[in-house]
Amino acid sequence: MEQYIIRGGNPLVGEVEISGAKNAALGILAAAIMSEEPVTVDNLPNVRDINVLLEAMESIGVRVDRKTPHMAVLDSANVGDICVDYEYIKKIRASYYLIGALLGKYRMAKVPLPGGCNIGARPIDLHIKGFRALGAEVDIRNGVIIARAEHLHGSHIYLDTVSVGATINIMMAAAMAEGRTIIENCAREPHVVDVANFLNSMGANIKGAGTDVIRIRGVQRLHRTEYSIIPDQIEAGTFMFAAAATRGDVMVKHVIPKHLEATSAKLLEIGCEVEEFDDAVRVVASRKLHSTNVKTLPYPGYPTDMQPQIGVTLALAKGTSIVTESIFENRFKYMDELARMGAQVRVEGNTAIISGVEKLSGCRVSAPDLRAGAALVIAGLAAEGETIIDDIIYIQRGYEDFEGKLRSLGAEICKVESEREAQKFRLKLG
Ligand code: UD1
Repeated sequence: MEQYIIRGGNPLVGEVEISGAKNAALGILAAAIMSEEPVTVDNLPNVRDINVLLEAMESIGVRVDRKTPHMAVLDSANVGDICVDYEYIKKIRASYYLIGALLGKYRMAKVPLPGGCNIGARPIDLHIKGFRALGAEVDIRNGVIIARAEHLHGSHIYLDTVSVGATINIMMAAAMAEGRTIIENCAREPHVVDVANFLNSMGANIKGAGTDVIRIRGVQRLHRTEYSIIPDQIEAGTFMFAAAATRGDVMVKHVIPKHLEATSAKLLEIGCEVEEFDDAVRVVASRKLHSTNVKTLPYPGYPTDMQPQIGVTLALAKGTSIVTESIFENRFKYMDELARMGAQVRVEGNTAIISGVEKLSGCRVSAPDLRAGAALVIAGLAAEGETIIDDIIYIQRGYEDFEGKLRSLGAEICKVESEREAQKFRLKLG
């Protein structure tokens, strides 16, 4: 089993390039199935979730030509099967996007109910409500969602909760339904806009993505395109907090600063300097950090996917901070691990109360999920001594070459598979 071994204490200094957005890429790759002609997708992040989704797509007949680790040409002309295997679905929750894409194009989809990150109950009732409103019959049998429609037609859909997944999934199916669809109370995340832009580049007619009302006029076919995915705002934000927690100075390159506003605002509040450029942000943490309060909200609010990273950083900030998680109920599992590193934290329901300490000390911890795993890496980088992180498979789902990028900023971190490799790392550092 792979682990990270970290010798903490070095401030991160230098420049880092951000990869394409994993969550946008998942929607875009699924949507590519809807084109009759080959589509080229560039700036793909080379991470596990993307590679698994591409395998799932190949298994139903999509020809995937991986030109480079970051670019693929997808040809869906010979999709012969609308049944997706559970092996793939259990590994990535977002393979549920194949339901919207297959239903839109083939009027039929059979996709097992998703697994994914263990961050709380994650129903897909809103996705199903949307498909039904578009005229599909949706049944769940033996753990498989079976959606089919004689006629997929436009509809007026109100989402009870703001949901990224439901917005994207319904938007994909509606892009090829007959007539006009209006989706209200939509998610406004940058990756919703990116999937809409991708669909439009294939000939769809989608307006309003990025606002809370999306209007779609269905089209009969979608055509070839070449598309480059937006930068990953969560990967970028993770490096920004890594700079803050280690008292470093990092230029985070190839980003859209607008997408990082909530993160930048919190870094400024806790005493960092944040400088924005056209496609980069620089975070300098030269002063002592101090406490703040934060509540996760749908975009443009503070992202739930950035909650563990700020939580870890606040554990080292002077004063008492309150972190409220309002999207997923199970996202404080890293707090127990953080406490073992010396943090003073208390979780009450969906609130964590964090009293900053001067120092954390390294120990062996486990990544409970993707973002919390990345946050524990930040804790290890800031802590005194050695930290070992287990279950890094979660981190590899969504961060491309995390350890390599951190090393280029001066971090002492290594991916190891055995105690012998860990010893080699220790010997090298002396
Ligand atoms: C996406 C992101 C995930 C991020 C989350 C919130 C992807 C692949 N994943 O997940 O990283 O943490 O957005 O920004 O893009 N809900 C329902 N019924 C539904 C769907 C959702 O009640 O049918 C609820 C959820 O339980 C949650 C809230 O809505 O409380 C938001 O979830 P949602 O935006 O759908 O998250 P995902 O799309 O799964």
